[in-house]
Parts: sequence; C-alpha cells; structure tokens
Amino acid sequence: MPYSVLIADDDHSLRSVLSSALKKAGYHTVKAQNGKEAIDCVRKDEFDVILLDIFLGDTDGLDLIESIQELNPTASIIIITGHGTTQTAIEASKRRAYWYLTKPIDLKRLLDLVSRAASASNQTKNVKASITSIDADGQGKMVGQSPAMQTVYQIIGRAAFSDETVLIMGESGTGKELVAELIHENSPRSDNPFVVVDCSAIPPTLIESTLFGHLKGAFTDAHIDRKGKFEQADSGTIFLDEIGELPIEIQMKLLRVLQEREIEPVGSSGTRPINVRIIAATNRQLDTAVAQKTFRDDLYYRLNVIPISLPPLRERKEDIPEMIDLFTSQFAQEYQLPKVGISSETIKELAEYPWPGNVRELENAIKRALVMCSGQMLLKEHFSQIFDKTPDNTLDNQDLDQQIFTLLQGEVACYLESDAETGELHATIRAIFEKPLFEIVLEHTEGNRSKASEILGINRNTLHTKLNEYDIK
Ligand SMILES: Nc1ncnc2c1ncn2[C@@H]1O[C@H](COP(=O)(O)OP(=O)(O)OP(=O)(O)O)[C@@H](O)[C@H]1O
Ligand SMILES: [Mg+2]
Repeated sequence: MPYSVLIADDDHSLRSVLSSALKKAGYHTVKAQNGKEAIDCVRKDEFDVILLDIFLGDTDGLDLIESIQELNPTASIIIITGHGTTQTAIEASKRRAYWYLTKPIDLKRLLDLVSRAASASNQTKNVKASITSIDADGQGKMVGQSPAMQTVYQIIGRAAFSDETVLIMGESGTGKELVAELIHENSPRSDNPFVVVDCSAIPPTLIESTLFGHLKGAFTDAHIDRKGKFEQADSGTIFLDEIGELPIEIQMKLLRVLQEREIEPVGSSGTRPINVRIIAATNRQLDTAVAQKTFRDDLYYRLNVIPISLPPLRERKEDIPEMIDLFTSQFAQEYQLPKVGISSETIKELAEYPWPGNVRELENAIKRALVMCSGQMLLKEHFSQIFDKTPDNTLDNQDLDQQIFTLLQGEVACYLESDAETGELHATIRAIFEKPLFEIVLEHTEGNRSKASEILGINRNTLHTKLNEYDIK
C-alpha cells in the first residue's frame, strides 16, 4: 500500500504541482481546496501525511489542526505558508504539527520531509494508541489504585479528622508532601494556613528562630519581633519536612512543643500557647537514626502517632499508567498544548523502569518527553534520557537542573544546525531558550566563560557577543 497524502491548499497550481511530484514518487494523493473539503476528506479516509496551507480560503489552517488530529490521530501534518511569522511557527509547533514549511517550496526538500513524516505516522499507527484526555483537572490530585496506595488513602482519610501528629516516611519523590497537603485539605483545619518548613534547608543557627520566632534584640540581626513558622500556622497545620535533619538540640525543643503545646520565641522568657496540627516527613529510616542516637527516641515516639509509609514507585508499577495519563494531561493544560497520546509499548517500557527518583522522576521524564515530542504520540525515543541510562548512572531527583540543562543543550544544537529554510522556527526556539540557557551555564561554571563555551559547544567569541546581546554580566 502506498502512503497516502492529502494536499490542502487554495492555490490550484500549487496543488497540481505537489500532487504530480508526490504521485511520481509513489504516493497516493488527494486534493482539497478549502477547509471544509479538507475536513470531509479526513473524515472519509485515513492519511499518512497532510500538507496544510495556513491561508486556506475559508479557514485558517492552524485552526483545522485540532479537528484533523481528532479524526485522523496518526497523520503527520506539515504546515505550509506563504507568510511565515515567528508566531505561526510557534503556533504550529505548539499544536504538534509535524513540520512547518514556507513558500516557495523546494520540491526535493518537500519529498524528503514527506517521506520522513510518513514513516513517523506509520510508526505511531503500528502501536496501539491510547489518547489521553486533557480536560480532567488533575492539579494536585493523587492517583494510583495499587493495594499499597489504597491503604495510604484510608490512613489519610482517618488521619485527616483525628488531629493527631502524623509521620510520613518514604523515599525521595514518593509523594510525602502531597500526602501532607491532602491530610490538611481534608481536615477541619483546611480553611487555615498550611505552612511548610524544610528542616534540611535552614542553617542550623537559624532553625530555632525560624520555627519559634524571636523578639527584637534577641541576637545581632533581630531588629524587630518576628513570628516563627509555628505561629504563622496558627489554627492550621505545620508540615515539618526532612525532620531527620533537625539538629539534636532543636529536637529537644520540638519535643517540648509537642508535649506542652506552647512555644518559646528566642529572646523571650515566657511561652505562648499554640494551636497547630503537626505533620512530619522523612526519607531517612528514623528508627535507625534512633538506634544511632542521632534522633531522640522520645521525639520519634511522639511524632510517630499515625505513621504513613509511602512505597517506592517500583513496588507499585501498576500505578504507572494512570500517573502517565495524569501528568500528560496536566502538562498539556499547563503549557496549553493539545492532547498527546502514548503508545502502549512505551507505557510498558516505562512501567518496567525502576524509577529511583520515584513519582517526581516520572513526572519530570514526562515533562521532558512532551517538550521533545513533535508529533501527537509519545514514543520510546522521547524518553531516551531514561532508557539510555546505565544502571549505575541513574539521576537522583536533585538533578533536575542538570536534566533541563541537557534539554536546552539539545535545543541549542538544533538551531546551530539550522539552514535557511528552517531558520525561522529555530530562531523562535533560540529566542525562548538561549538567554536562560546561557544564564544557567554561566552560573554552573561560576562565570568561567571558557568552560561555558565548551559546554555550549560554541566558541568563546560567539559566547562573548551573545552575552553582550542579552546583557548578561
Ligand atoms: N500518587 C501520586 N499521584 C500524583 N502525583 C503524585 C503522586 N505522588 C507524588 N506525586 C507528585 O510527584 C511529585 C513529588 O511528590 P512530593 O513532592 O510530594 O514527594 P516527596 O516525597 O515530598 O519528595 P522529596 O522527598 O523529594 O521531597 C509532586 O509533584 C507530586 O505532586
Ligand atoms: Mg518533599
């Protein structure tokens, strides 16, 4: 069966020229002279490639993309226009057109493009597709129906109403903060503040005043009275993240707060009553820390009234497809992109990956794949950073910056290779990515320009010019 190409253009002579060139190359072609005809054709037949003019008589071709994709989800759409603007290029790529071409059309190049577009379409057709829906408002939602997660939901439900202290344990990226939020949102305190404190991110010398506040003059920089996190969380919930990192002297003070339900601001001689629900989280084995005497056992027992253990993602692989669905919908909405499908084969491969960074790593992988994907279907190749990784070279989730960085590097390589015809699209990519990329790289190299130009793969003079252009110091 020859590949089938729809040529939708209001220019009669161009339609004929393209059609005969494509026929000669062995394609089956159908012609449409306006938007209505194009939609009729797509409704009747399935095409591998659709050449779509933007100024299409009665319609704007860009507006047709979505309807075409709905009727014919595996077709690769190539946008053709006589009046290319940066905005059209952006729009075309946002709507997941396969490619964007400006007139006059170079036939040789077009044939080459059509052949690539046809095989991309064929690839997506051969795998069973499941198109995800984007209209569900998945923001902040917790998904997964595995038995382990069912247990977690039950405990969340009971914990929400009890007002007791909760200790959430789980590896990095398993959803500890999300669970804490859900408990708060479902509790009678939900109209009051939910205050997050990352105990690992505060310098030891500031922890006490951060948590409990201070009075003016309590220490050199204390120019005014300041409320601590506990008081900010009044009538609400405080989430003490990475509680295992709390210095031992502060552990004792926290224990007192838990027992007496009152705080003592730094520099004060009295105490203040507090009404705060406490949820703590840790990715360390606190019982081991207790055995090693780096964590107080009395505090551990006080915190561990309602324990919630979040299993690593590799132990609940059955949740992965639903998560993929949620994240693809969420990001499509966030970036205002059309819905994108994912092949069941790719889903299977993703479910087999061990996900050392758990849900967060999966979320980031999907985000990256959506940026890399120019068609309507996420394929294995869009997850190359995951699948091409050797087991001992796995990224932990602190490496997101590195990942974004690698992504941007790819974009730079892409525009550096640009030729005259695709220059416009690449200029767009460049405008979006280049300045932040240079800033990230320079920060990374601590201002060292030789290193930066090496990483970016451009020479020092070019870098110098660019930095001036973008006014980066
Ligand atoms: N079951 C789930 N369903 C949907 N999204 C989830 C689920 N679990 C986690 N996430 C998402 O994954 C990301 C990581 O979750 P979260 O920040 O709660 O993890 P964490 O355990 O606190 O990680 P860390 O230890 O690295 O702080 C968040 O964006 C969260 O919304
Ligand atoms: Mg967290």
